Amino acid sequence: MKKNNIQIKKEMISLVNQINKFDHNYYVLDDPLISDREYDKLFHKLIDFENLYPKFMVANSPTQRVGGKPLEAFEQVNHSTRMLSLSNVFDESELNDWLKKTIKEAGGKDKKIICEPKIDGLAITLTYDKGELVQAATRGDGLVGEDVTANIRTIRSLPLSINYQEKIEVRGEVYINKDAFNEINNNRIKQNLEPYMNPRNLAAGSIRQLDSTITAKRKLQVFIYQLVNNENNDLSQSHFDNLQHLTSLGFPVNKLTKSFSNISEIINYCKNLESKRNNLNYEIDGVVIKFNSVEDQKKLGERARSPKWATAYKFKAEQKMTVLKDIDVTVGRTGLLTPVATLEPIILGGVTVKHATLHNEKYINENNIQIGKKVIVERSGDVIPKIIGSIINNGQYKKYKIPTNCPFCKKTVEKNKETSEAYCINEKCQIRLTKNIIYFVSKDCMNIKGLGSQIIEKLISEKIILGIEDIYKLDLFKNEIAALDKMGEKLVENLLTEIEYSKNLPFSKVLTSLGIKHVGSELAVILSSKFNNIENLINASYEDLEKIEGIGPKVSNALIEYFQNEENLKLIFALKDYGLNLQEHQKDKNSAPINSIFNNKNIVLTGSLESGSRSKILNILQELGGHINNSITKKTELLIVGSNPGSKLDKAKKNNILIMNEDELISELDKINYR
Ligand code: IVH
Repeated sequence: MKKNNIQIKKEMISLVNQINKFDHNYYVLDDPLISDREYDKLFHKLIDFENLYPKFMVANSPTQRVGGKPLEAFEQVNHSTRMLSLSNVFDESELNDWLKKTIKEAGGKDKKIICEPKIDGLAITLTYDKGELVQAATRGDGLVGEDVTANIRTIRSLPLSINYQEKIEVRGEVYINKDAFNEINNNRIKQNLEPYMNPRNLAAGSIRQLDSTITAKRKLQVFIYQLVNNENNDLSQSHFDNLQHLTSLGFPVNKLTKSFSNISEIINYCKNLESKRNNLNYEIDGVVIKFNSVEDQKKLGERARSPKWATAYKFKAEQKMTVLKDIDVTVGRTGLLTPVATLEPIILGGVTVKHATLHNEKYINENNIQIGKKVIVERSGDVIPKIIGSIINNGQYKKYKIPTNCPFCKKTVEKNKETSEAYCINEKCQIRLTKNIIYFVSKDCMNIKGLGSQIIEKLISEKIILGIEDIYKLDLFKNEIAALDKMGEKLVENLLTEIEYSKNLPFSKVLTSLGIKHVGSELAVILSSKFNNIENLINASYEDLEKIEGIGPKVSNALIEYFQNEENLKLIFALKDYGLNLQEHQKDKNSAPINSIFNNKNIVLTGSLESGSRSKILNILQELGGHINNSITKKTELLIVGSNPGSKLDKAKKNNILIMNEDELISELDKINYR
């Protein structure tokens, strides 16, 4: 008997519900209900139905997870409430202090605290309305993100429909598990393609694919960690209960989430999870610690970029053992020869590590590091991996000797007996020139986009570039450059515009770009404001330089040595002739000064800032009338502290100097609309 439309529609919906249940059991509960074969049969039955009766296809059909038509671009999404990041604590005592302080601030002892693994992926916010997933957006800058709904729909563990009709918004972390990451990378290696760096980058790249069919192949996963408490929802005032509610609605919530009410239990949880992190099939980089009561969360409030009711306990750098396969040598822009280890690849802190720096010959021999041996490698955050020791065994290994000639230009290297550092002193060495130009055009220097290392190498080998200053005569070689690999006229035009634009950058940027030993962007800002122009700086005596706060013998000597070199002076005056700024611009005396707390203050910075490069922040503080110094003295009035601060923080505390963290700095800048 022929089925009528109502029966067909019913059967299709029932199939969708069945398969969604099987998916939930398989992907979220890790408890499959049927065999793969049976599953495939049902799935194909549904596909056949949908092909015959497309009008009965439903939005939450599992067939809709394979991706759709590629998008032209992502739409922007304004977040309902800001997507914040988290403050950090780095050890037990910092965590203890944070908990004590925050519990007190929340006004009580018996506070329920929730601990969750900190998933190393990317944040996502999901809106469901009338039971359907209607929008998924990335974090973006916290206020505005990108609409990646099509890509998020491919995540099989995420319900496309839920049994809750009100509009709700949930947030979580998208990630790729270690097995899936390795499988994708092994396939890439087989195809002679460069493997992906780490699961986090691959997950982020996959979510930002315009073609969702590619995303579908990446086997992304998600953990939901937050219900956004929009005013009109009737959910619980307890974060933990909300997570349980989300679990019952079918969301994947991390099972290691636990609730505690005393500090020592929380610390135990953190230590225990840290020791277990390698056993998990996904990367975690810490524990997120949250106040359970939504009321407390509201009371504690938030800073510029992070809530006060939560923090992240960050795990220590991970260490692993691997085999040292070989030692190569790189030559830096100063000519310094650095031995680099080639390792049997390992994943460390979520990153595939194939190389590690070995500093110099002395370091290698002191640590008994030899080719063929097992070595211990450590990586913390984004820092270059280090070999921190080797395993003693009975093999016969040769002592390492740094080459006596530059591996690139073959000229004899000069060795500093004290530091055991070896230098290629050939100023014409092509590798040094390449590195100098890479540095000169980099983001914190002249920021010339479109001059990548490969193009630089070609321009040098074609003898179009013989020195840094030749960047500014590339307009004479338009045709030659356009003919280089992958460059066309359009790219050459873009590059020339970038080069022209770089001439507007301030004196301090040009000074940074020269690459004078020990003179980074921060010192360049100080030097340019103290000496006003390059001539004054060239003529400055050792005594003039040392008088400046924060400039010691090392920097003074480096500056004197740099300006004594004829080649360097030639470069500087060539750059000046090309129109680069080699003097500080006079501030416009007619414009009203902006009233800020930074005006006329002696300011020092320590640690790294997340909201922008240090030099950008320094320029802003200077524009606001601040005097930037490099070290804490009696005159220092304000210390700005980023993450991983140095000894300056202790010194400032001892001297009762006003301390401001990055959030507070940003709040101040926001107050005067200056960002
Ligand atoms: S809560 C307002 N919980 O860590 C609270 N974040 O540096 C915001 N993350 O942007 C986040 N696991 O992408 C929270 N269990 C977890 C998390 C988590 C990973 C990420 C999240 C956030 C970043 C903060």
